[in-house]
Amino acid sequence: MKNTVLITGGSSGIGLAIAKKFLEYKYNVVVTGRNLSKLEKVKADLPSIHIEHSDVTNEDDVKALALKMEQSFGGIDVLFNNAGIMNLIDAGSDVNQLDRQFTEIEINFNAPIRMLHYFLPQLKKSEKGTVINTSSGLAYVPFTQAPTYSGTKAALHFWTMAIRPQLKPHEIRVVELLPPVVDTPLAHGADIAEDDILKPMPPQKMADIFWKDFMNGKDEITPGISKLLKLMSRLAPKFIFKQLNKQPIPKTK
Ligand SMILES: NC(=O)c1ccc[n+]([C@@H]2O[C@H](COP(=O)([O-])OP(=O)(O)OC[C@H]3O[C@@H](n4cnc5c(N)ncnc54)[C@H](OP(=O)(O)O)[C@@H]3O)[C@@H](O)[C@H]2O)c1
Repeated sequence: MKNTVLITGGSSGIGLAIAKKFLEYKYNVVVTGRNLSKLEKVKADLPSIHIEHSDVTNEDDVKALALKMEQSFGGIDVLFNNAGIMNLIDAGSDVNQLDRQFTEIEINFNAPIRMLHYFLPQLKKSEKGTVINTSSGLAYVPFTQAPTYSGTKAALHFWTMAIRPQLKPHEIRVVELLPPVVDTPLAHGADIAEDDILKPMPPQKMADIFWKDFMNGKDEITPGISKLLKLMSRLAPKFIFKQLNKQPIPKTK
């Protein structure tokens, strides 16, 4: 029987590139997103993919999605918490950006916790239960143009490390993908794409690296510059913080 992967935020960028990998390896692939026309375009390009219009921050959407996955596929085997947004924020600005920041925390950090809660019974039932969380290389070194984003990714990193041994007795594997800068709509907003050490990686290359490491049993996957960020955050944290944050306040907000 085919395994089923559910990828939140699979309608573009990293999620979509990885969805194509799972399709190639004959999984049932379900991708979610808020924008229906984006999802419909994905379906038109990849007819074998399943699309679900579902917002990870909406409790009713998530409950309905869990029920639908149970009914359509007998449950999922892989929960891929990938949906995320990045806001450029200046904490020194008088402009009130509270709502944007709280939404960012909801999507990037609270949602993976909610998703695991509702999908845990299905993952326990699967013989290959797996949770994959997309955090970021910025979980190792904060990016000051996106302070709340950096906080959510560090929180997701710690949460992922903490749940790994807890889910082990239930034979659920926990994997973390910490991407470098990847050429996606999310990365285009930041003022960093020109910088050499942060040259964006094509999503397909990211997906290839992910797939190789995932298949080799690696649980903390650090493509490209993320590996260096991890090392430098231990060896020379002040130096790498400065290198990453030459332009600490975003020009565009
Ligand atoms: N690109 C990078 O440089 C980079 C680096 C490190 C980590 N990451 C992480 O990688 C993940 C994917 O980002 P990306 O770069 O591929 O960006 P992207 O192309 O903008 O994709 C983000 C995806 O998340 C979906 N999404 C956003 N809010 C959602 C919500 N509330 N409910 C359901 N889906 C939602 C979006 O679809 P809708 O807008 O239609 O909902 C879209 O499918 C994120 O977690 C991001 O933080 C990216």
